[in-house]
Amino acid sequence: MASNSRGHFSSRFGFILAAAGSAVGLGNVWGFPTQTASNGGGAFLVVYLAMVFLIAFPMLVAELTIGRYGQSNPIASLKSVWTNSRFGAPVLGVIAMIAASMILSFYSILAGWLMGFAIAPLLELFGLSAAAEWLINFSNGRNLLLTLAFSLLTIFVVRKGVANGIEKWSTRLMPVLFVLFAIMIVYIFTQPGAMDGLKMYLVPDFSHLSPSLVVNAMGQAFFSLSLGVGTMMVYGSYLKKDVNIPKTAAQVASIDTAVAFAAGLMILPAMFVAKHNGVEIFNDAGELISSGDLVFTVLPAMFDTMGSAGILLAVGFFILMVIAALTSSISMLEVPVACAQDELKMERGTATFVIGGIILILSVIIALNFGSLFDLVAEISTVYMQPLIGLAFAIIVGWVWNRNKLLQELQQGCPELATSLFWKIWPWYVRIVCPIAIAAIFLVTVI
Ligand code: PHE
Repeated sequence: MASNSRGHFSSRFGFILAAAGSAVGLGNVWGFPTQTASNGGGAFLVVYLAMVFLIAFPMLVAELTIGRYGQSNPIASLKSVWTNSRFGAPVLGVIAMIAASMILSFYSILAGWLMGFAIAPLLELFGLSAAAEWLINFSNGRNLLLTLAFSLLTIFVVRKGVANGIEKWSTRLMPVLFVLFAIMIVYIFTQPGAMDGLKMYLVPDFSHLSPSLVVNAMGQAFFSLSLGVGTMMVYGSYLKKDVNIPKTAAQVASIDTAVAFAAGLMILPAMFVAKHNGVEIFNDAGELISSGDLVFTVLPAMFDTMGSAGILLAVGFFILMVIAALTSSISMLEVPVACAQDELKMERGTATFVIGGIILILSVIIALNFGSLFDLVAEISTVYMQPLIGLAFAIIVGWVWNRNKLLQELQQGCPELATSLFWKIWPWYVRIVCPIAIAAIFLVTVI
């Protein structure tokens, strides 16, 4: 571990944007609004907020702290805190790395579609309707081309390293995303029908509460904060020692949650604007039709009805989605790349190309067998692997790691920690409450 040659985020601000960039992704702008819309609106929002605060945030602190202590890739960082077992840490690290790679393999396909939806309106504008149609309709050719394009973008950024790639691009892209978001929300609010969507979103109807709603909310919170795959651990390892981890984690979680909330403010009203304009979004039973591709059907239909402003909005919106996806995908690729760099002594450039290439091949296999593989890979990695790996991390921090070392690590950026409320609650909370809650909710999934 040549720790002095490792990259570091150049500033705390840069770290926050990069970690928030990882967290803010398709999970926020697509997953969250879709889940909210199909789980009854406000009730899901309330449970989701509880899950972020009660489970995901404490786990984010745990993952960042292991990473910063280890100052290395997830495999080595886990080894540094889990010292009494020879194989435990490497096995867990490799599993996390596989989970990150699996998520990236299906994520790139989705992100590729978004690139297609961003380019299509422009082609339409120049009269190239056939090409535009091709970009937005499902076909193997389109899926492969766009997945390749998005994967290359991801590889391009990661190859440049921590400060010059990940941090630089996150700091450039995240503010653009926030501004685009604000413009879209204001615009949609002025459209007829928007208020019905707002009501569904903000007035909770607790008759929708169910065990599966809770399971979905926890899964969504884990996915959204990039937990349980080593991403936050590897980002933590690039964090300087004088940074206050609990405070920084709270800021990252707040940004992520604010963006998810804002995406809901945009998409739920947009659904009802679309409905107002004659697009069918609910069936007779009042359920959302085709909730999975909500974003791809409802929104373009809505943009279509808005004339030339619609074209601009469509391009803006889908560019925004691609930006969000890219700052997340780079953080997924960083996990195996960091492992290969340290553990196999590979050059960063080589590691990025080799691993990015392997994951691209995985994406191609999934794209060519979309019907049978896409949901399967997404489900195994996000519904099963993320909570289980997260559970293991909670147990390591709560039970395996030496308490004094844990305190010392957290104290470095926060000298008053030992007397703080955080330190009175968090250690036993991660030791007892987090594992029990994650395990219980996971059991509901299995049953
Ligand atoms: N948090 C990202 C999103 O919301 C997804 C992600 C998962 C990123 C796991 C990194 C690791 O889209």
